[in-house]
Amino acid sequence: MDQASSLRKMVDKQSSDIKKNIPSSTQTGNVNGLGPRVISVSSGKGGVGKTNIVGNLAMAFASQGKRVLILDADLGLANIDIIFGIHPTFNIGHVLNGEKQLSEIIVEASKGIHIIPAGSGFVNLTHLTEGQKLSLLSEFETIGDMVDIFLIDTGAGISTNVLYFNIAADDCVIVATPEPTSVTDAYAMIKVMSTRHDTKHFKLLMNMVKDVAEAKSVYQNLCQATERFLNDIVIEYAGYITFDESVRESVRQRKTVISLYPDSIVSGQIKKIADTFLKWPRRSEYDGNIKFFMKRFVDYKMQQ
Ligand SMILES: Nc1ncnc2c1ncn2[C@@H]1O[C@H](COP(=O)(O)OP(=O)(O)O)[C@@H](O)[C@H]1O
Ligand SMILES: [Mg+2]
Repeated sequence: MDQASSLRKMVDKQSSDIKKNIPSSTQTGNVNGLGPRVISVSSGKGGVGKTNIVGNLAMAFASQGKRVLILDADLGLANIDIIFGIHPTFNIGHVLNGEKQLSEIIVEASKGIHIIPAGSGFVNLTHLTEGQKLSLLSEFETIGDMVDIFLIDTGAGISTNVLYFNIAADDCVIVATPEPTSVTDAYAMIKVMSTRHDTKHFKLLMNMVKDVAEAKSVYQNLCQATERFLNDIVIEYAGYITFDESVRESVRQRKTVISLYPDSIVSGQIKKIADTFLKWPRRSEYDGNIKFFMKRFVDYKMQQ
C-alpha cells in the first residue's frame, strides 16, 4: 500500500471514531461547504484575557447551536481546561508522539463544546517531522464537517506557532488591553504578520477597558499608527469587554463567566461579540479552514 492510500484508510477510520465522540444530533454540516470557520485569538502580550475570551465565546456560540472545537495552543499558565473545570488526561502531545489518535484526546468541555487539550508536544510545530505533519493533517481532515467554529487559543507574541495560526485562520482576532505595552505589542504583532506574512486583515478585541470610549480610543490610536507606518492593513473593531471582578471570580470557581453570571454586563458584552463574529462574511474558500491550515504545515518544510 502506498503512503497516500494508507493515510486515507487511517483518515476514514478516524473519521468514524471522531463522529462517535461528537454527538450525532449536532452533526448537521457547516455553512456553504466552506468547512468550519477558523478563528485564531492571539495577543502581542500575555495575560490580556485570551483564554477567558475563547472559553466564553465558545459558550456564546454553543448557546446558538453552533458546534465549537477549541484548540488549546496557549501553553501559558492558565489552560482553557481551567475555566471549564475539566482535567483532560491526554493532549495533543500524545497525538504527535503517536500514542493516541485525535479522536481519543478530544474532550467535551460543555454542551456543544469540545477541546483539543494543550500539550508540551505543541511547543514548536515547525520542528515536527514530515511524518508527524502528514499524520496531523489527516487527523484534522476528519474534523472538517463535524464542527462549525474552530477556535484557537494561541499563545502570545510572535512565535512561529502563533503566526501560523493567525495566517491560516479566517478571522485573526487580536486581544489588547488599554495598557500601553499591550497596545505596542499588538502593533508589533500586526507589523510582523503584515510585512513578513502578508496577512492584512485583523480584528481588534479590547479587553479590561473602563468603558466603550476607552476601547474606541485605543482602537483608533492603533489604526492611526498602522495607517501611518504599514501598508494596506485593515483592522476591524471586534468589540470590547469591561474590566470586571466577575471574570476573576468565575476563573476562581473554574467556570466561564457566561455560565456563572449569565445576566452580567460582561456576559452581555461577550454575547454581542459572538453575534458580531457570526455576521462577518467568510473571506474566501481557500483563505481559511483547518485543511488549508494544516496543508501549510506540511508544505512548510519544502519551502525551508
Ligand atoms: N474583562 C476582565 N476583567 C477582569 N479580569 C479579567 C478580564 N479578562 C481577563 N481577566 C483576568 O486576567 C487574567 C488573565 O486572563 P487569561 O485569559 O488567562 O489571559 P491570557 O490567556 O491572555 O494569558 C485572569 O486572571 C483573568 O481572570
Ligand atoms: Mg491563556
